This record gives sequence, structure tokens and C-alpha cells, in this order.
Amino acid sequence: MTKIRAAITAVGGFLPDFVLSNKELEKLVDTTDEWILSRTGISERRILKGEGKGTSDMCAEAVKVLCAKRGIDPMEIDLLICGTVTPDFPFPATANVICDKVGAKNAWGFDVAAACSGFMFGLVTASKFIETGTHKKVVVVGGDKMSSIIDYSDRATCVIFGDGAGAVLLEPTTEEFGIMDSILKTDGSGRQFLHQKSGGSVSPATHETVDAKQHFVYQEGQAVFKFAVTNMAEVSAEIMDKNNLKPDDIAWLVPHQANKRIIDATANRMGLASEKVMLNIQKYGNTTAGTLPLCLFDYEKQLKKGDNIILAAFGGGFTWGAVYIKWAYNS
Ligand code: UT7
Repeated sequence: MTKIRAAITAVGGFLPDFVLSNKELEKLVDTTDEWILSRTGISERRILKGEGKGTSDMCAEAVKVLCAKRGIDPMEIDLLICGTVTPDFPFPATANVICDKVGAKNAWGFDVAAACSGFMFGLVTASKFIETGTHKKVVVVGGDKMSSIIDYSDRATCVIFGDGAGAVLLEPTTEEFGIMDSILKTDGSGRQFLHQKSGGSVSPATHETVDAKQHFVYQEGQAVFKFAVTNMAEVSAEIMDKNNLKPDDIAWLVPHQANKRIIDATANRMGLASEKVMLNIQKYGNTTAGTLPLCLFDYEKQLKKGDNIILAAFGGGFTWGAVYIKWAYNS
């Protein structure tokens, strides 16, 4: 039987207009442009403004861009998976809201909560629905309104994160393109270093939890950094070995944009020159589930049919992994 693979056939993205620069952050917290740039690689990030605007609004825009590019009607989408750590509501799923906002009336959908690996976990899940032949058009969207869970008086976290969303369309192919392999991992013991303390079933929101700022991101940066730098590099090297890929065989690394130093360490471990590494952290900061599809969105025109691409991510949970893709089209 001919093997069906899931190929990315279109990419969409959305960034809010409002730019929060390092200089502006200098006015909010005790930090400097120099510190942020040298320790993270970030110059500015985008913030979603507007009463009642949530993650679904950015994701819906990204999906609309994708549909327009591919020339499809949202009614053709069979399934939409949304990776996010800032859902519009605890329930219903943001995927449902996105489907409603774009008019994907024939789609079903669900959210994937894997923090910075949310898009990647969603992508691999989606690929299985294509590979089994049951679904023909699956959208995976990764987006986060991180500004909704960031304490802008905490310099350890507010300089890092930004808002944004990106989306890809997966379609079946019997050619040697698409998602070729993946390695995904979780380690729940890492949750203590990066989480949101309250608002869930363990500690429902109360006046006290809000006063204690427990609805914001809690991160022990150095500890997360150590796990991230080791595991993202390790899993990227592992997927290369598993698929017998040498540095020369790889056209692009698409790394999660959490810290330029983590990205550099991963590229070094893989033996890749910096020209092969997608980078937009300087413009957008860490958009959590948005980083990988937004990289693809920014670099889409430079991608060529047949390019070997490695996606790599690490995030809260801990969650991490790598995906090997053979790019399926020329823009
Ligand atoms: O995407 C999800 C996964 N998350 C990550 O991968 C994030 C991983 N962690 C990191 O990227 C880095 O740990 C951070 C960027 C969060 C922090 O950088 P760092 O080099 O690890 O800094 P640090 O926490 O070790 O702090 C070094 C110093 C401290 O001062 P003292 O104790 O040496 O006097 C901090 O208080 O830098 C201070 N500091 C700051 N100074 C100016 C921390 N944040 C700031 C700041 N501006 N914004």
C-alpha cells in the first residue's frame, strides 16, 4: 500500500501592531536594552491590545491568511488543532472559537496544552489524521497572548514574552515530502520550574491568589535554561542520527524562539552554520506556541521544495521534541 504523508501546503501568521520595545520596558522595570539583548537576543515584542481580544483573534487571522494563500474555503477544513497556553477561556477550547470565527463549519477541533511545544505536539498529532487517510485538510495553529499572563512588574519574565500566532495547513501526499519523522518528550517533574500557580483545579482563582500574582507566569529562568539548552540540542541531534542526516543535508533549523543562546547552542550541537537557522526572536520575543509557525511564515519565501528542515522546541511541562520535514512546495 502506498504510504500517505502529511505535507505542509500553506503557512499563515499574525502579529499585533503594537510594538513594546526594550526601551519602553526600561520605563516599567529595572532593566536595560543592553541586558535584554545580550542575555536573550530580543529587541522588541508585539502586544495584542483591545478590549475582549484574545488568542483566538490572532489565530483566526493566521488561519484566514493561510486559507487565502492556498485558495481554499474554510468550509473545506476537516480538523483544526490549536496549541496554546493562553486559551480564550478554560473552556470551551480555543480551537472551537477559531473555527467559529473563520467559518470552518465542517471542522472539529481541540486544543493542545504543551506550552512552547504546543504547535509541535499539535503538528505531529495532526499528521496522524492525514496519514491514516481519514482527513484531507487539517489546520494546526499555534498562538499565545502571553501578555495576558505576564506580570509587567517582574523583570525576570516580562522582557521575554510577546503575543502572536502562526498556522499551517496539512494535506496528504504520496510523494516523499512532508513530515518524515518526529521525537516528542515530556517530563512532568519539570513543572515546578515553569508554571502558572493558580487558576486551575489545584488552586482555583481567589482574591488571595490574584493578590499574590499567582495567575502570572512563574519561571525559574536559570533552571529552565539548563534543561532547555541540553534537551533541545540533544533531541535535535537525535533526530539527525535517526534519519542519517548530516549537517550538509539540512537546509534549515526552525528552533523555538525562547533565548538566542539556546538557539545557538542547538545549532552548534547540530553542526549548522547560523545562515541555516531561522530567527525572529529579535522582533517578536517568545510567543510560546507561536514561535515555530511564525518562523515558517517569515521564511516561507526562502524555502524550496525538497529542503530538509528540522523543527526543535522546548517548553513548560517540561515538553520538548524535534520534527523532521521535507518541504513540499516552492512559494
Ligand atoms: O520558552 C519556554 C522555556 N523558557 C526558556 O527557555 C527560558 C530559559 N531561561 C532564560 O532564557 C534565561 O534564564 C533568562 C533570560 C530568563 C534569564 O537570563 P539569565 O542569564 O539566566 O539570568 P539570571 O536569571 O541568571 O539572572 C542574572 C542576573 C540576576 O542578578 P544578580 O542576582 O546576578 O544580581 C538577575 O536578577 O540578571 C538579573 N536579571 C536582570 N537584570 C536586568 C534578571 N532579569 C533581568 C532583567 N534586566 N530583565
